[in-house]
Amino acid sequence: MITFSGVQPSGIITIGNYLGAIQNFNPNSSKENNLYCIVNLHALTSNPDPLLFKEQTKSLLALYIALGIDQHSTIFIQSQVKEHTELAWILQTLVKMGELERMTQYKDKSNNNKENANAGLFTYPVLMAADILLYNSETIPVGQDQLQHIELARTLATRFNNKYQEIFKLPVAKLNKKGAKIYSLNDPLKKMSKSDPNPKSYISILDDLKTITKKIKSSTTDSLGEINYDIENQPGISNLLTIYSLCKNITIDQTIEFFKDQKYSFLKENLIEAIWQILEPIQDKYYQIIDNQKIIDQVLKDGQKIAKQKAEIQMKKVNKVVGLYD
Ligand code: TYM
Repeated sequence: MITFSGVQPSGIITIGNYLGAIQNFNPNSSKENNLYCIVNLHALTSNPDPLLFKEQTKSLLALYIALGIDQHSTIFIQSQVKEHTELAWILQTLVKMGELERMTQYKDKSNNNKENANAGLFTYPVLMAADILLYNSETIPVGQDQLQHIELARTLATRFNNKYQEIFKLPVAKLNKKGAKIYSLNDPLKKMSKSDPNPKSYISILDDLKTITKKIKSSTTDSLGEINYDIENQPGISNLLTIYSLCKNITIDQTIEFFKDQKYSFLKENLIEAIWQILEPIQDKYYQIIDNQKIIDQVLKDGQKIAKQKAEIQMKKVNKVVGLYD
């Protein structure tokens, strides 16, 4: 059974990315069956500065290595396996414009302004479907915001299988139930996002202790003064409780029990400590790896080889049943 997921190198990843998806990138069997892709072609839809873009891609790779993901999984860069775009083109001929127009992430990212959105942003979910189907992936660890895209990948796989031949398996999203959606620190009704222009809204994996302290201390709460897990009436506090419970690997009930009758300042101080306990060792390793070009190159080379081999086999089958000269 193949597990696959992707993260965009569109900025330093946040604890939302980490707790919502990356922490779920666990070993299930062998390196060949756990594939984690740095989806730089997706990130290109935000038209990044080329030098910064390359740095961010390398930085995400170094973070994966710091997290030990390369020990049990294949890590690779999307643009280094050209079959992703090849399959995306074929799937584009099967998707309907209406289906893409209904994608909520497209609506958000284009600010409902079709005239100015680039076409890559519009067809983004098709490339994502190609990422997944290229490897016959069955389990996709992601946050809640990707569910609609995975549903579209299933639709396209079914449509292709019915029209041509049964080639694709139907992928299933694997949500980390508690952390499926981590909210912004200063606007807890919005998702925490690495592309948010206000850095106070997120904790980056590379934030130092001083920055984390400032951000958590200034995070939005409410005037009730009581610690409850109540997303509707106390979204800020509930979000902080979720983050704490994930950092400490305890349930929400255990978290509430611990903070019951305490002040918000007590919750925030403990949360800062809990986040730092997770991030400090990751950062130590990250800073050792980021300048070690040899390790980075080796991981990339190994990853590209494994991914490419699988992708070529799948594309041969696809091209054949579609009737394309290969
Ligand atoms: P991206 O780069 O926006 O986010 C990477 C992963 O982090 C999850 N995530 C969150 N989870 C919980 N709370 C949050 N606030 C939060 N913010 C982000 C995302 O759900 C995601 O799992 N389209 C994808 C990348 C992609 C992909 C794929 C994923 C491309 N191809 C194939 C899976 C399979 C994206 O933009 O992720």
